[in-house]
This record gives sequence, structure tokens and C-alpha cells, in this order.
Amino acid sequence: MDMDKKKIVQLINAALLAREKAYAPYSGYRVGAALLSLDGSVFTGCNIENASYGGTVCAERTAVFKAVSEGRLDFTAIAIAGGKDDEAPPLSGYAHPCGMCRQVLSEFCSSDMNVIVAKSADDYLIHTLGELIPHGFGPGMLK
Ligand code: THU
Repeated sequence: MDMDKKKIVQLINAALLAREKAYAPYSGYRVGAALLSLDGSVFTGCNIENASYGGTVCAERTAVFKAVSEGRLDFTAIAIAGGKDDEAPPLSGYAHPCGMCRQVLSEFCSSDMNVIVAKSADDYLIHTLGELIPHGFGPGMLK
């Protein structure tokens, strides 16, 4: 799905800002995400860890759950930025979504959704969700 550069930069900057809110005292790895709804609104999320580690929620799922709980169900892109506590943009790596986040995204997003992984607003990669989770199990399977 084509996206203009201005929107990509806006989404990455929102993800980088959300990353500053990450609660990651256990891993020391902070992630921010910004999810673009079909209607143009943006929902951000950060990773939120827990002393009982399994209670941790990733940045991408925080953003999706915020959006869905506000009534949005259709998304066209997500930007993700992650790196160690002390890192500032440009981050040292591209934080790709974990398997569980790919699955959750695939519940609400089509395979041509853009997944932007960024080190900074001018250093990023764009994948489609279909590239990241090929042959996934989706809501259509249960119909
Ligand atoms: N994390 C995310 O927020 N998103 C991902 O897709 C991968 C991992 C978080 C979870 C945990 O708080 C930290 O990064 C280290 O795994």
C-alpha cells in the first residue's frame, strides 16, 4: 500500500515519542509504536513490562488494544522503533514485531498493511504484514 513520505515521517516520530514512555525496567529495551487508522487517526503504544515477566505487553499490542478499545478496527500502517534504554535516534537496530504482535496485527489488518521499522525518521524499512506473517491463521478461517 503506497504511503506518502510525510505520513511515514509523522508516524515514525510518533513511535519515537511513544518509546519515551516505555516501562521497561527488566529488559532495558524500550519500544514505541504508532498505528495509523483508516480514518487518519493515530494510536501510539509503548512496551509495558511486569515483575511477573509474562504480564509484559509489547508496544505494538498496546497501540492495537488502545485503538480497538476506542472503536477503531481498520488500520493501514504501523511504525515501530526500539532500542536499549540509553539509545537515542538513530537507534542501532530495526525492531521488528514479535510473532505474537504479528498475529494480533493480522486480526485487524490486511496483508498489504505497511509495517515500518525505524532507526530514525530518515532511516527505516517498510515491509508488508503479509511478508512478516505469511500463511497466517486469520479471522476468515473461522467463518
Ligand atoms: N517488545 C516490544 O515491545 N515489541 C516487540 O515486538 C518485541 C519486544 C518488548 C517486550 C519487552 O518489554 C522488551 O521489548 C524486550 O523483549
